[in-house]
Amino acid sequence: MNAVAPVAQGAVAASRDAAVVVHGLTRRFGDGPAVLDRLDLAIAPGEFVALLGHSGSGKSTLLRTLAGLDPVTEGSVARPREVSVVFQESRLLPWKRVWQNTVLGQDGADRRDRAVAVLEEVGLGHRIDAWPLTLSGGEAQRAALARALVREPAFLMLDEPFAALDALTRLKMQQLVSDLWTRHRCSVLLVTHDVDEALLLADRAVVLERGRIRTDVPIPMDRPRRHADPRFEHLRSVLLESLGVHDG
Ligand SMILES: Nc1ncnc2c1ncn2[C@@H]1O[C@H](COP(=O)(O)OP(=O)(O)O)[C@@H](O)[C@H]1O
Ligand SMILES: [Mg+2]
Repeated sequence: MNAVAPVAQGAVAASRDAAVVVHGLTRRFGDGPAVLDRLDLAIAPGEFVALLGHSGSGKSTLLRTLAGLDPVTEGSVARPREVSVVFQESRLLPWKRVWQNTVLGQDGADRRDRAVAVLEEVGLGHRIDAWPLTLSGGEAQRAALARALVREPAFLMLDEPFAALDALTRLKMQQLVSDLWTRHRCSVLLVTHDVDEALLLADRAVVLERGRIRTDVPIPMDRPRRHADPRFEHLRSVLLESLGVHDG
């Protein structure tokens, strides 16, 4: 499947103050328990929100619903028309070159030029004509980011995009996402298991538990973020506590 979500029918910008508004969203699979349980969430234009929570807490279900890949069966979702999603795996088509993957499904004589521009922006200018299977994990995720950004989304969703990368590559990718967000200023919802990643990148961290938001905390630190900032340690404890991790 294409990693860039199609636009859900009837999806519109929520209001001047919020790019994304989720209200009373409930989702069940079959007759199982509610995976999302009367969930409310609003994301402002240009706001960067990190979404944390244990495996199975409903994070990907929420993202898929926001992307229009899963139906809204109970409650409501409003979000911008232009949305993009990046998953943990790059989901590049192996038989298309990197630049062709970047502008997949896009028209126009300037397709290649647009692909080149965005690939240069994510640091892949030297891999434009490469085949996906020759890319490293970090490069493949850069290509996935390029494919998401080329659509100029007003709302970018990232579902554990760096979870499969080594620690050093992950740090570089976090820096890249921070730079891209500073330039593009779209709303971002980043699913991560990594509390430090949330604290390095986001304006706000939200913890999902059994389909509801258990914690919603602002991260009022200046950027670039420093681990040495005394608020970093405090916020880390708050989030770990909310995730049920007690580090003494
Ligand atoms: N298509 C599906 N069919 C049935 N159950 C599903 C489906 N997708 C997700 N679930 C269930 O919903 C719960 C939340 O899943 P998910 O949103 O993937 O959690 P997370 O991303 O937080 O790990 C899990 O119990 C999962 O098994
Ligand atoms: Mg998930």
